[in-house]
Amino acid sequence: MECVTTEIHGDLARVIIDNPPVNALGQAVRAGLLNAQKQISHRPEVKAVVLCCAGRSFVAGADIREFGKPPMAPFLPDVLAALESSPVPWVAAIHGTALGGGLELAMACHGRVASGSARMGLPEVNLGIIPGSGGTVRLPRLVPMADAIALVTGGKPVGAEQALASGLIDRLAEDDLIATAEALARELAAQGAPRPTLSRALISGAGIDWESEEAALRKRSRGAAAPLEALAALRFAATAAANDALAAERGRFLRLSASPEAAALRHIFFAERAAGKSLKSQGVVPADLSRVGVIGGGTMGAGIATALLVSGSEVHLIERDTSAAADAQGRVAETLAASVKRGAVAPDKADAALARLTTGDDCATLAGCPLVIEAVFEDMAVKQQVFARLDTVMPDDAVLASNTSYLDLNTLAGLTRDPSRILGLHFFAPAHVMKLLEVVRGDQTGARALATGAALARRLGKVAVVAGVCDGFIGNRIMSACRRECEFMLEEGALPQQIDAAMEGFGFAMGIFAVQDMSGLDIARAQRKAQAANRLSRERYAHIADRLCETGRLGRKTGKGWYEYSTGRATPDPEVERIITEESVRAGLTRRAFASDEIMARILRIMQAEGQALLKEGIAESAGDIDVVMVTGFGFPRHKGGPMHMAATGVISSTD
Ligand code: 3HC
Ligand code: NAI
Repeated sequence: MECVTTEIHGDLARVIIDNPPVNALGQAVRAGLLNAQKQISHRPEVKAVVLCCAGRSFVAGADIREFGKPPMAPFLPDVLAALESSPVPWVAAIHGTALGGGLELAMACHGRVASGSARMGLPEVNLGIIPGSGGTVRLPRLVPMADAIALVTGGKPVGAEQALASGLIDRLAEDDLIATAEALARELAAQGAPRPTLSRALISGAGIDWESEEAALRKRSRGAAAPLEALAALRFAATAAANDALAAERGRFLRLSASPEAAALRHIFFAERAAGKSLKSQGVVPADLSRVGVIGGGTMGAGIATALLVSGSEVHLIERDTSAAADAQGRVAETLAASVKRGAVAPDKADAALARLTTGDDCATLAGCPLVIEAVFEDMAVKQQVFARLDTVMPDDAVLASNTSYLDLNTLAGLTRDPSRILGLHFFAPAHVMKLLEVVRGDQTGARALATGAALARRLGKVAVVAGVCDGFIGNRIMSACRRECEFMLEEGALPQQIDAAMEGFGFAMGIFAVQDMSGLDIARAQRKAQAANRLSRERYAHIADRLCETGRLGRKTGKGWYEYSTGRATPDPEVERIITEESVRAGLTRRAFASDEIMARILRIMQAEGQALLKEGIAESAGDIDVVMVTGFGFPRHKGGPMHMAATGVISSTD
C-alpha cells in the first residue's frame, strides 16, 4: 500500500498521506511526497495542490522510531524545499494534530487551513531536540517572534483559533476542511507564482529581551538543554539569512538527536505508551465509566471525583454522614473552581461537571455504578467494613477498586465473594492533576477489572502502570527506600537542605525533605510503625524523622518539619540540625561532608536497587514502567529518562 497518493480533480491535485496511526513522516512518506511533487510537475493542467491526511490526524511529526539510527534519504528539509519551490501553490488541510515535522511540512506549504478542533505545535523539545526542518526559520516568518518563542521552547500545541489569530494558519474551516483548502488553493493560484514562506520577511522580533528570555527558560528547564538550544536557534534566525539559519538549525538538530537527553526522552515517550498495555485482553469489555461511585470525599476522593466529572462521567460520592457528604461536595466545588482559575477547565465545563455530582451516605445507592472507587481512611478495619458492605449491595458485575497506598489488596479482596472484580487504583495527589495511575493487580484480579483500570486511565488522560501487591507498590516503595537512604546520609553528616539542593540541581522539582513537609511527616511515620513488627533488631534504622514527629514537627501543616516556615518559606532550622547531630552520636558515626554528586549517586543507586528488586519479585512488569512511575509521579527529571534508564545506559550519577 502506497502511503502517499495523488488524485487529480480537474485543475486541482490532492495529495493524501495515509500512514497509520499518526501519519508520521517516515522514509516512505518523505519519498512519497517527493514523488508526488515530481508527478504533479508533469501535469500542466494542475494549478494548485491540497495536501491532506487520512485517518484521525494530519502529520504528527517525524517518525520517532527512526531517531538514533542512521538517517535515510530523502531528508525532510530537502522534501520541504522541493514543495516550497513548487511552481504551483500547495495548501495544507489540517485536522487532528500537526506536530513537529508535520507542522514544518504545513509551514513549507504556501497556505494553511485547519478544522476548528485541530491542534498545532512544535513539541521537539519534549524529545530533547529542536525542530530540524525549518521550524525555527519559517515560524517567525508567519507569527510574531514572541509567539514563536512560546511554541518552540514550550513544546505545547495551540488550538486552531489561536493559530489563526497569530498568523500560523490562513483560514479556519467552518465545516468542510477540504473544500475550504481548495478554495484557498484556487485563490493562491490566481495570484501567480506562489510565495515561499522562506522568502517572507521576519515578523518583528524587536522588543524581545533575549537575555531575560534565556534566564527565565534556564530556570524552567531544570537542566534540560533542548529548550535553550531552541531559543538559541530562534535568536540566530532572528537576524541571519534564511539559508544560514536553516543550516544552523539542522546542525543543532542533528547534534541534539544523538544526545543522551534525546535518548532519555525517547525512552520515556515509548515507555509511557507501552505502559499498561498488558491490562487489556482481547475480547474483554471494560465496565461502563459513564457513572462511577466514589467512597470517601477527602483529599483523594474529592480529587478523583473531580477528574471523573471533568472527563464527563456522573459521580455518586458517598461519605460517612450527610454533613461529611456536604463537606465533600464543597471540596469538589473548590477543586473545580481552582481548576478554572488556573485555566485547566473552562467555566461552563466546570458548572456542567459539578451538576453531574450527587452525594449520599449509604453505599446501597451506588448499585447503579459499574465502577466504585474507595478512598476512605488508610485503615484496614474501615476499608474492610466498606468492602463488606459493597459485597452485599453491588451487583455481581460491578468492578470495585481501592485507592489504598500501603494496605494489602489481597487481604481486602479475599474477604469478598468475588475477588476477581477487585483491583487497586492508586492515584497520586492531587488526583485531578497528577498523570500517574498505578493499577494494582491483586493475586486474583480478573481481566475485566484490569481492562477497566486501563479504560479509566485513558478516559482521565492518565498513564496507567501495572503494579503487583507489595508495601507501597512501585513508586512509594522506591521513595520509602530513598527516604531511608537520605536519612542515613543525614546521620553520616549531610543536612536536609544539602540533600534537597542536590536533588534540585539534578533536576527534581523538589527535594525529598521539602516534599515530606508538604505531604506531612505523619504518613511515613504510620508506615514505619506498621513495618516495625517485621524489622530486624540489627537492621539499620534512623530515628531522626520519628523525633521530629514526636516534637510535633509534622511539616507545613504544623508550621515546621524538616524546615521551619515562619516566614512562609522553607528555612533550615538549627533545632533540626541539633536533632540530626545527636542522632549521629547515637549511631556512633563521625559526621563528614557530602558533595552533591555523592548524594545523587547514593539516591540513584538505591532507586535502581529497589527497582531491580521490584522486577525480580514481579511487582513491576518492566524497567520502563518503573521509569514512567518515577518521572510522572515523583518529579524525577524527565530528560534523564528515569533511574532504570540511567542504569541501563551506564550513567549512575550526573548533575550536569
Ligand atoms: N513517530 C512514531 N510513532 C509515533 C509518533 C511519531 N512521531 N507519534 C505517535 N506515535 C505512535 C505511538 O508510539 C503509538 O504507538 P503504539 O500504538 O504502537 O503504542 C501510536 O502512535 C499512537 O500514539 P498515542 O498513543 O500517543 O496516541 P494519542 O492519540 O494519544 O496521541 C499524538 C497522538 C498527539 C500524535 C501523540 O502520539 C504525540 O504527541 N506524538 C508525538 C508527536 C511529536 O513529538 N512529534 C514531533 C516528532 S519530532 C520531529 O517531528 C522532528 C522534526 O522537527 C524534524
Ligand atoms: P482523607 O482523610 O483526606 O479522606 C478520607 C475520607 O474518607 C474522609 O473524608 C472521611 O470522612 C471518609 N470516610 C472515612 N470512612 C468512611 C466510610 N466508612 N464511608 C465513607 N467515607 C468515609 O484521606 P485521603 O488522604 O484522601 O486518603 C484516602 C485514601 O487514599 C487512603 O487509603 C490513602 O492511603 C490513599 N491515598 C492517599 C494519598 C494522599 O496523598 N493523601 C495518595 C494516594 C492514596
